[in-house]
Amino acid sequence: MTDKNATLSFSDGSPAISFPILPGTIGPQVVDIRPLYSKTGHFTYDPGFMSTAACTSSITYIDGDKGELLYRGYPIEQLAVNCDFLEVCYLLLKGELPNAKQKSEFVTMVTNHTMVHEQMNQFFRGFRRDSHPMAMLVGVVGSLSAFYHDSLDITDAHHREVSAIRLIAKLPTLVATCYKYTMGQPFVYPRNELGYTANFMRMMFSVPCEDYKVNDVLVRALDRIFILHADHEQNASTSTVRLAGSSGANPFACIAAGIACLWGPAHGGANEAALNMLEGIGDVSKIGDFIKRAKDKNSGVKLMGFGHRVYKNYDPRAKLMRETCHEVLEELGLHDDRLFKLAMALEKIALEDDYFVQRKLYPNVDFYSGIVQRAIGIPVSLFTAIFALARTVGWIAQWNEMISDPDQKIGRPRQLYCGAVRRDVTPLATR
Ligand code: SDX
Repeated sequence: MTDKNATLSFSDGSPAISFPILPGTIGPQVVDIRPLYSKTGHFTYDPGFMSTAACTSSITYIDGDKGELLYRGYPIEQLAVNCDFLEVCYLLLKGELPNAKQKSEFVTMVTNHTMVHEQMNQFFRGFRRDSHPMAMLVGVVGSLSAFYHDSLDITDAHHREVSAIRLIAKLPTLVATCYKYTMGQPFVYPRNELGYTANFMRMMFSVPCEDYKVNDVLVRALDRIFILHADHEQNASTSTVRLAGSSGANPFACIAAGIACLWGPAHGGANEAALNMLEGIGDVSKIGDFIKRAKDKNSGVKLMGFGHRVYKNYDPRAKLMRETCHEVLEELGLHDDRLFKLAMALEKIALEDDYFVQRKLYPNVDFYSGIVQRAIGIPVSLFTAIFALARTVGWIAQWNEMISDPDQKIGRPRQLYCGAVRRDVTPLATR
């Protein structure tokens, strides 16, 4: 607890009221306003939650001014270089990096849950072949709760762990199946001898007519993309998962809710939008005109992959993504890739433009991730589904933290009502 507090006084002479200030381990402290309404009859007003801490958490820390991102205290730059995605999954779920034995056991557990119930494949048959992968993914992930009645008791820590493993293990299979369905190619089963990300790439790109050869550089690049997207504090989709989970909904339904929220272009859909934006600009000579439109409020145009609610400095993930981009393009002999050169030119021009500098708008995780994924062979329409695959571990870790919190309550915000005051219904004949 704390002896520091904040006092709220009222100009109408109502009695002032003090609220305790609660410290975290690092980062902004909070004014604990929980008794505000019961003591004053007032709500706080904070659309978009610009100044609201909705929970306590020990999973991910972001310092937007420094451009710092820590998963359980470890800097993202170190995790991206020294760990693979399943080690980071273990860290996010359990709070510590695994030792060799713990990692081996965790990998085996995930590997043995990568298949989905055979009947799930029937769901895909109902979709149009040109369905957006996110439209299919949100449906099939929600339908997992129709198959796993043995792990839906969210009050049981073991059930929660089994559901977490199932979701982390099955998302790659489901995302790859979404892709295969749009391609009209046969679904590919996971192979237990392959690592997590190599398995996903084989399910995505192998065809029955020839053996699939794993490219270790591309696997490592995609594995790093998963790490960079794994969690990010209380972003919109994580907050959606927490709110859905606060009602006691099962984890599969909660993750489906997170996928739905992530789809938006202001959030996880920005990587797809950023690549389409680069394709639309087309040439370095057109950047000036585009920047002009992005600065014009009436144009409805934004520089996709730029700006962030929290980062008012360079998103550390964007830096790592740009390096990965360079490595992949070099590996593929695409160092002259048109879009990568266009993206770097656009970034340079924007970062020297007062409009972006004054508003502290920097590239975010989505600015380069589309270029890397496109180079790896992932279609633009699948970018956000890849983001969802990677973010599933963060969502489920945050969900588990919330469910395990003894103070957890159903989330139920209030409002500032500006509608009609009470009035009587007049009969239709007289209206
Ligand atoms: C993700 O929250 C997370 O952590 C999300 C995420 C995660 O890992 O979960 O990091 C993933 O969602 C990254 C963000 C991806 N979205 C985009 O790249 C879409 C483009 N970016 C913008 O839509 C915007 O920057 C947001 C949504 C990301 C942030 O919006 P905010 O914090 O609500 O800021 P704002 O819209 O109030 O912008 C402040 C000003 C405004 O101008 P003024 O009213 O001050 O004159 O900056 C302008 C905005 O018009 N602005 C932009 C801009 N982003 C903000 N102008 C042009 N292009 C942009 N990209």
